[in-house]
Amino acid sequence: MSRILVTGGTGYIGSHTTVELMQQGYDVTIVDNLSNSSIDVLDGIEAIVGKKPDFANIDCGNHVDLDNVFKQYPDIVGVIHFAASKAVGESVEKPLLYYRNNLGSLITLLEVMKVHQVQNLVFSSSCTVYGQPDAAHLPVDETAPIQKALSPYGNTKQINEEIICDEAHTDKDLHATILRYFNPIGAHPSAQIGELPNGVPQNLLPFITQTAAGMRPELKVFGNDYNTPDGSCIRDYIYVVDLAKAHVKAIDRMLHAKKRDQVEVFNLGTGTGLSVLTLIHEFEAATGVKIPYTIVGRREGDIEQVWAAPKKANEVLGWKADTPIREVLASAWNWEKKIRNIK
Ligand code: NAD
Ligand code: WQD
Repeated sequence: MSRILVTGGTGYIGSHTTVELMQQGYDVTIVDNLSNSSIDVLDGIEAIVGKKPDFANIDCGNHVDLDNVFKQYPDIVGVIHFAASKAVGESVEKPLLYYRNNLGSLITLLEVMKVHQVQNLVFSSSCTVYGQPDAAHLPVDETAPIQKALSPYGNTKQINEEIICDEAHTDKDLHATILRYFNPIGAHPSAQIGELPNGVPQNLLPFITQTAAGMRPELKVFGNDYNTPDGSCIRDYIYVVDLAKAHVKAIDRMLHAKKRDQVEVFNLGTGTGLSVLTLIHEFEAATGVKIPYTIVGRREGDIEQVWAAPKKANEVLGWKADTPIREVLASAWNWEKKIRNIK
């Protein structure tokens, strides 16, 4: 049996990925400092797969603690590194916190992996590295130019990618898969795990589900004067369970492919862009719940439109995000209802 270390594994994407890994027969050890997640997530995972993953409550930037985890689990064959701070607005307010956490944890992880000769790393990156692609690069494939980051958070993703490439350049044993996610949404169909945003959600779908639950009086749509068919911004919303499955494919490939590049990059999206207004209407159609909304001004720093060309991931990983959007939106609503005790 192969063991995967999942950093940030009690978080939103990490918990869904842990479920998929365990269901495919991998042993999982999670390390998480619970800075943005709850220990109860382990119960949710157990309810789905029938077993808790191993767990260590440590900070990924703590060399000694991380080293001890690798000592305790000599069967670790690969690492999926989710642990990071991810709130764009907060990163503008507290850039040092973001640089320390997101850079420090990756650097520590790479140092400790090297000591223990663990040579396979999957890294959580983001479509934010592409900024606003020009028309010639829409949909965005992996060759589109990286643009200057719009926030310290986005910059940490770019620098993290560079750190991985620089280290792989000198350490030929290190293999890495960089996954650039588009907009992950939804929850596990069991409603045992899902997204748990802190405070007022900044992301669109959690705001929609909290509005549906009556926690917010209305959704504010940030702008309807963009150069898009209905004037609202366009994103590629990818179901978190589909996204989680891509990580299993990436790990499988790292462990078993006969031939692969030392560092590989994949865009993970559906290949379809949806506008904000379309997403609201699809949510209403999927759930039968009306979302009150008003159009307000643009949000500073927003990208007008971006969606993925997932061809490389489809062909090389043998993976496709194909869950219908209404099913995805219904899963998000079922999760919100469960955590708010709505019948
Ligand atoms: P999340 O906040 O739900 O999960 C991250 C987890 O990491 C949390 O459980 C948190 O407690 C933990 N963590 C943070 N710093 C840590 C540290 N130093 N040591 C140990 N644990 C630590 O976020 P998520 O949405 O699941 O995102 C996972 C990864 O995917 C992040 O790297 C994020 O930047 C990236 N990503 C997320 C999105 C998105 O929209 N959710 C999009 C693109 C990329
Ligand atoms: C989606 C659309 C908003 C809230 C962010 C990060 C990015 C990545 C994913 C990690 C936009 C609109 C939103 C609301 C709205 N994360 N909106 N009213 O902006 O694509 O990206 O999350 O890497 O780095 O920046 O996602 O969910 O915030 O917004 O109208 O109350 O919904 O303007 O067009 P975004 P989002």
